[in-house]
Amino acid sequence: MLNADRTDPATLREAIATELLAARDRTAGLTGCVDDHDLTAQHSPLMSPLVWDLAHIGNQEELWLLRNVGGHDPMHPEIDPLYDAFEHPRAERPSLPLLPPDEARRYAHEVRGRVLDLLEASPLEGAPLLDAGFAFGMIAQHEQQHDETMLITHQLRQGAAVLAAPPPPAAPADRLPAEVLVPAGPFTMGTDTEPWALDNERPAHRVDLPAYWLDTVPVTNAAYLAFVEDGGYREPRWWTPAGWEHRMQAGLTAPLFWSRDGGQWLRRRFGTVEPVPPDEPVLHVSWYEADAYARWAGRRLPTEAEWEKAARFDPASGRSRRYPWGDGPPAAEHANLGQRHLQPAPAGSYPEGTAPCGARQLIGDVWEWTASDFLPYPGFAPWPYKEYSEVFFGPEYKVLRGGSFAVAPVACRGTFRNWDYPVRRQIFAGFRTARSADAAGGTEGA
Ligand SMILES: [Fe+2]
Repeated sequence: MLNADRTDPATLREAIATELLAARDRTAGLTGCVDDHDLTAQHSPLMSPLVWDLAHIGNQEELWLLRNVGGHDPMHPEIDPLYDAFEHPRAERPSLPLLPPDEARRYAHEVRGRVLDLLEASPLEGAPLLDAGFAFGMIAQHEQQHDETMLITHQLRQGAAVLAAPPPPAAPADRLPAEVLVPAGPFTMGTDTEPWALDNERPAHRVDLPAYWLDTVPVTNAAYLAFVEDGGYREPRWWTPAGWEHRMQAGLTAPLFWSRDGGQWLRRRFGTVEPVPPDEPVLHVSWYEADAYARWAGRRLPTEAEWEKAARFDPASGRSRRYPWGDGPPAAEHANLGQRHLQPAPAGSYPEGTAPCGARQLIGDVWEWTASDFLPYPGFAPWPYKEYSEVFFGPEYKVLRGGSFAVAPVACRGTFRNWDYPVRRQIFAGFRTARSADAAGGTEGA
């Protein structure tokens, strides 16, 4: 849902149907390009079999829309526990009596048919789950989020490439400063007005920040390679104690999917091995690696508030925008979103998506690790269920912002918060760095 119009149910209905359809097209693409063996296999203990995601998408849609909104009886109550993400960790899902691919597809299709009937008849107001079509928007986002998860499974899958997409557009040749200054002052973080924002993005609140410098673009492969080649993975002083312990235990020496062939670094991307492109934002690094790089560069990761102020605050109007470029929905010229491409665009791309502070690519391309733990905003209230966010709050998760090339526009906005463990590398995450503009700070870059 890009611009939910609360006043016109017909427009809203159509927008919802469009989002549901877009999500299902993507799901079909991600599950239709491999055979049943690949759908039911577990490609990594970190991931579910693709066929689990497929039926789980249908099951959540049935639960929230048909049962909670529509008051329907369960279609197949016996399968509910199989697809409850909290009951079965991913590693154990392949051993469950899951619906086979054909049945999973049929189930999701049947649910969707009934949901479209429900949508047609729904007033889309008069109850919190219905207002502005919230529950429908939540389900469209949920499916797209699982599509991103399935794309991660594709990246982890061994074997020949089955996905294809054109490369992203080349970056313009303009020379950008290494960093941009965000002056001190308050801004509005979070939202009360974004119709499909999730509970953890709410409520809007004022945050006052000292001035800071932020990288204009995400850290590139070339910059990250300098850290690798400078012995960054062999120097405990760049790492937090927990990060160093993990680096040693896991034997990390470079981003995930990288390998060295003589003097050249290669990477595997959706089944294709290719030279690491120097100008592309680095991908598949953990929070620990991002944090160590930043320290090596004499910098630090931005806090989540610093990221959001850079992405949303417009000093001219004094208000926070929905996106870096304004309040209009993401278009192809603004950001690399929606799996249009199967990789990030070169650093410096998307000048039309530039934020008021001058930073680029805050939305799309790579998720950006921030320094912050995943915590509730002041005044947080769980909605529509505790397991959405509340059970994850705490220091064990770090916040990621901005969305990757694998994130759909419906699940991406300036307020959107993602979170994961600091060891995670299979996700489409990179980062940019920051530094405080204190009395000692000049304009020298890192
Ligand atoms: Fe889910």
